[in-house]
Amino acid sequence: MFGTKAHLRAENDHLFIEGVDALDLAKEYGTPLYVTSEARLRQNVQNYHKAFPDADKYFAIKANGSLAILRILAQEGMGADVFSGGELYLARLAGVPQDKILYNGNSKSVRDHLMALEAGVRMSVDSREELSYLSRNVASTGKGAKILFRVNPDISPATHPKIATGLKTSKFGIPFGQVAEAYMVAMDLPGIEPVGLHCHIGSQILDTAPFAEAMDRMMDIASEVIKAGGDIKTIDIGGGLGIQYIPDTPAPSPSDLASAILPIFKSRCKELGISPMLNLEPGRSIVADTTVMLTGVNVVKKAHQNFAAVDAGFNALARPMLYDSYHHVVVASKASQKLEEKYTVVGPICETGDILAKDRTLPKLESGDILAFLDAGAYGFSMASQYNGNPRPAEVLINGDKAELIRRAEDYSALLQGQRMPPRLLW
Ligand code: LLP
Repeated sequence: MFGTKAHLRAENDHLFIEGVDALDLAKEYGTPLYVTSEARLRQNVQNYHKAFPDADKYFAIKANGSLAILRILAQEGMGADVFSGGELYLARLAGVPQDKILYNGNSKSVRDHLMALEAGVRMSVDSREELSYLSRNVASTGKGAKILFRVNPDISPATHPKIATGLKTSKFGIPFGQVAEAYMVAMDLPGIEPVGLHCHIGSQILDTAPFAEAMDRMMDIASEVIKAGGDIKTIDIGGGLGIQYIPDTPAPSPSDLASAILPIFKSRCKELGISPMLNLEPGRSIVADTTVMLTGVNVVKKAHQNFAAVDAGFNALARPMLYDSYHHVVVASKASQKLEEKYTVVGPICETGDILAKDRTLPKLESGDILAFLDAGAYGFSMASQYNGNPRPAEVLINGDKAELIRRAEDYSALLQGQRMPPRLLW
């Protein structure tokens, strides 16, 4: 029933996450609730280490910024891909060493540069224009910068258009034909040391061929840079490996990715006589399948179709609304029962598009049932909002048969956070 997810099972008709009954969690912490398996998280990192023993892996913090999770990833030897000052702050708090952090971003402010320079982390420079104001910021602080260049590789993987990031038309990176020249310009700038190339072709990619294509392109640029007298210490191929959200739609594993890109990387480095570090930036494939989101059924309504209205909407899990994403649903309170009725699962938000799952055949539902949305660990809580006056949910970490709260649920006071009432409006 749960495929390769060894941390999930049905017992006494209930869903268990490792040794803990999902219904006990729902009762104790309330719903909606994010529940993460620590064992699965550590296992996922180990799979990457095994597939890429010589590469540096930087976790993409945008996928999941919960500190306890980041701490576990740091313990397991993951670095961090950060895309904002806030993510840099989280990475440092989690204990990620500065030489394992890459500050990415297509729209960095002067403040972002200063923060990265102060922290002594490398930056991925997204444009020639950014290079020139980075150079000014380097001069004003007197702190040197090691940089990579974000390459726009013009590669079109099959994924949702909103998360394909390496298309020619996308906002990210420098057109690949102009990168070597930018590298040369950077080499002449005082305080700036270009150390490598970076790309990221998109997310939830289920075929390894586009990664191989990207690697080839990166090595073409590396070759131009070397010929022009530059040095390449790092090739960062980004993240993007997809996961199996839909039963029967398997995803490549980290070792499949390794088989697709390592031979190209190694042979072309050998040809060029260089030995750069390979960097990867996985997000989703590290955290997605570690986590379920539990949500309680409020109303089961028979209209022109059956609706199960639950307490999580796109405020708690935005992916279905944003990308029509599929998250598999298991009824945690009827985990072994016959699938016999079709339901569309909707949230409490005042928008017709607040649909979490369409036309799913589930056991007969009633008010009080608990549903589990699987694979919610990536871009789940991290994209949650308070829309429609909904405080964000709690998060729990499961370690064997123990559950630990790693983020308490917000209460209504969170809706007021930071707000000020001008005295003239006081009542
Ligand atoms: N590196 C860079 C520079 C990125 O922009 C991203 C993701 C990653 C690494 C990690 O990619 P991953 O391994 O997670 O695919 N919110 C969307 C996904 C947005 C991805 C943005 N960039 C979703 O829920 O599907």
